[in-house]
Amino acid sequence: MRTAVYEQYGGPDVVRIAEAGVPEIGDTDVLVRVDATVVGASDGAGRSGTPRFARLFFGIARPKHPVLGSDFAGVVERVGGSVTRFVAGDRVFGTLAPISGAHAEYVNVSEHGAIVHVPEHVDQVEAVALVDGFLTALPFLRDGAQVRPGQTVLVNGASGTVGSAAVQLAKHFGATVVGVCSGSNESLVRSLGADRVIDYTCDDFTDARDEFDVVFDAVGKHSFGQARRALTPTGVYLTTVPSLAILLQAPFTRWFSRGRRAGILFTGLRSAKAKAADLALLVELVEAGALKPVIDRIVPFDDIVEAHRRVDTGHKAGSVVVAVTAARRPVPPQLRREAAS
Ligand SMILES: NC(=O)c1ccc[n+]([C@@H]2O[C@H](COP(=O)([O-])OP(=O)(O)OC[C@H]3O[C@@H](n4cnc5c(N)ncnc54)[C@H](OP(=O)(O)O)[C@@H]3O)[C@@H](O)[C@H]2O)c1
Repeated sequence: MRTAVYEQYGGPDVVRIAEAGVPEIGDTDVLVRVDATVVGASDGAGRSGTPRFARLFFGIARPKHPVLGSDFAGVVERVGGSVTRFVAGDRVFGTLAPISGAHAEYVNVSEHGAIVHVPEHVDQVEAVALVDGFLTALPFLRDGAQVRPGQTVLVNGASGTVGSAAVQLAKHFGATVVGVCSGSNESLVRSLGADRVIDYTCDDFTDARDEFDVVFDAVGKHSFGQARRALTPTGVYLTTVPSLAILLQAPFTRWFSRGRRAGILFTGLRSAKAKAADLALLVELVEAGALKPVIDRIVPFDDIVEAHRRVDTGHKAGSVVVAVTAARRPVPPQLRREAAS
């Protein structure tokens, strides 16, 4: 089978297509022929080895795991003898995170892993585009911030993979949603349900006072210190991006503050069982029309280097999907971001 491999840290060009053996499956495993995967921000971090502390996870001197990619959608090729939930031919999607290996034509997943059936009326490209954003935004908003109806939630980076899922989820939870992005993505973010959009190139949301019950900085561009006064007196600031400050502020404000709190989660490290349960919820929400994928672009597997380049810009809108065996096709208009470049 074909895989995308990298053997040293660096720019997008360190990735190349190589041949490898199809994975062996065990008794409780499912072999999935991957139709679509994504290149996400964590793949960019793994490929470049930045920030440097990421190498504690990806490998100190050189990458430990030559194949990146966690999220997959495809068709079950065959199953182990004890598998009961899936049969060959099922359309499935999910994630291997925190391990990688999905930038390949086949992945081997435990049937007890983070894998579920693709909902009817959704194809594999659409399904895979939802995984990272949803499995990140849901724990942040539901568990970290405990978003309730009537609250005001600000999502910074509202047009990104995590932000676009967060806007839709916060709306689903009954919040008033304020999205922050550049002006070119305003109509996209409004179409996802944002009640108000702040263009960060003109206005700074941290100038607000006592306004937001939750500030979810999905792109980690503002610190707790900067966002603090924009929070209501008992408001919560959450960020996806680790820093020394937030690693200290999170426990400190949790234990000692009766007022504003700060927090960070590492959602990729959650158990496969928890992720599988959340993927089942994702399917329900998609079927109910409460959640739709946002696809920046679809890149053929042979051009995966271009997908890395796009992710490195820090300005993708939604997910960069890699069509592995799925034929390259145009993004349907209802999924396309408004300002596609
Ligand atoms: N902690 C965790 O468990 C966890 C899990 C998943 C991801 N992450 C991290 O979360 C971060 C976000 O990932 P992602 O894939 O959602 O990112 P992304 O899709 O690359 O985010 C890009 C978006 O951010 C917007 N943006 C860029 N600069 C901005 C600024 N200064 N202010 C507001 N918006 C800005 C861009 O909008 P414009 O183009 O309009 O500028 C673009 O649409 C990454 O660092 C990733 O590693 C953490």
